[in-house]
Amino acid sequence: MNKKNLHFPDNFFWGSATSAHQVEGGNVNDWSEWEKDNAERLARGAENYWQDWQKEKFPEMFDSRNYISGKACDHYNRYKEDFDIAKSLNHNAHRLSIEWSRIEPEEGKFNEKEIEHYRDVINTLREKNLEPFVTLWHWTNPLWLAKIGGPENKKFAYYFSRYAKFVAEQLGDSVNFWITINEPTSVIINSYARGIWPPQRKSFLSVLKVYKNLAAAHNSAYGAIHKISKANVGFANILTFYEPYNKNSVLDKAALKIAEYFSNKKFLNLTKNKNDFLTAQYYFHHKLKFPYKNKNQNKALTDMGWEIYPQGIYHILKKLKKFNLPIYITENGLADAEDSRREKFIKEHLYWVHKAIQEGADVRGYFYWSLLDNFEWDKGFWPRFGLVEIDYKTLERKIRPSAKAYGEICKKNRLIL
Ligand code: FCB
Repeated sequence: MNKKNLHFPDNFFWGSATSAHQVEGGNVNDWSEWEKDNAERLARGAENYWQDWQKEKFPEMFDSRNYISGKACDHYNRYKEDFDIAKSLNHNAHRLSIEWSRIEPEEGKFNEKEIEHYRDVINTLREKNLEPFVTLWHWTNPLWLAKIGGPENKKFAYYFSRYAKFVAEQLGDSVNFWITINEPTSVIINSYARGIWPPQRKSFLSVLKVYKNLAAAHNSAYGAIHKISKANVGFANILTFYEPYNKNSVLDKAALKIAEYFSNKKFLNLTKNKNDFLTAQYYFHHKLKFPYKNKNQNKALTDMGWEIYPQGIYHILKKLKKFNLPIYITENGLADAEDSRREKFIKEHLYWVHKAIQEGADVRGYFYWSLLDNFEWDKGFWPRFGLVEIDYKTLERKIRPSAKAYGEICKKNRLIL
């Protein structure tokens, strides 16, 4: 094969992403409460949930401690060290989230000390020339808000935009990119349709309510932030690449249309004209068989059992092209404890990203998920998504070989295949 030398656009943002609850440690919010009540159940349930190869490889999944976020990676205290690592890997941007429950632990009472903390976090990024992409809501709610229904409450948009306005007033000078809400559809599906994440609802009415309230929250935060700053505002969208299982089946094609509408398009429609940029978080390729059976044939799997399908990212980027807005890939990554597939994964995805750029998609940044191994929600600590390995006993950080390979791409702004 000829050597391919693929150059990315000038000023491309290269980095990785984290979220507060998954890395900080010491958070008190609706998830931390839920973990305490559900850790035992999740540990018992692992037996029937995972395949044999996963159970053998990751026996931690049977230990209830796996499901308690606790001190996580202690990133709350070690962010300087962690950003040093990102810098040493030639990143020039970093995506993080602010923990609402720290900023507003009681309704209407904002905690100055915690704002100072995040001011220092963001200034540290700036000093290291890492452009901050700041998410305001990566799924966790302060307890007072969870008690009154979280995003099911009609006033969610009011509370959220008040919090967004406060944070933007305090930190706005140093932030050019705000991400209001992380993956609205993941929460809607897992918390309100499948009922597996807090608050474990299974109700179509709740699904519709939460779509509406999260979109209203984004839209009013968009307005509130723009009143005080010129920063760019968007939301983080998980985009699945769907194909019909049988290309000639009318039913499979109908299933695809419905899935695509609810998971990829609806939130974009509800926030029309209120996005300065678009995002893509790409993990999944689904071959849909009517009514909603996912039949993938690709045998390349991550530790989570997710199919590896790099060309999917090309298709979703091409679909975003028509909106004529800048696009940032705010998450893409895999769980790979042995680090045997990560380098190839990143390179192959970037190959397809580059192709989409060549064909007109205005992609301006790529954030690998994640900088660190971290707490993967209801799956806990065993999935290893990090460029950097965490020893959860000593909290020691160890840079994985794939992180260095990615670091070379970031440094050269080019992918050599
Ligand atoms: C995304 C989430 C992120 C992480 C990755 C694996 O859907 O936004 O927090 O859990 O999946």
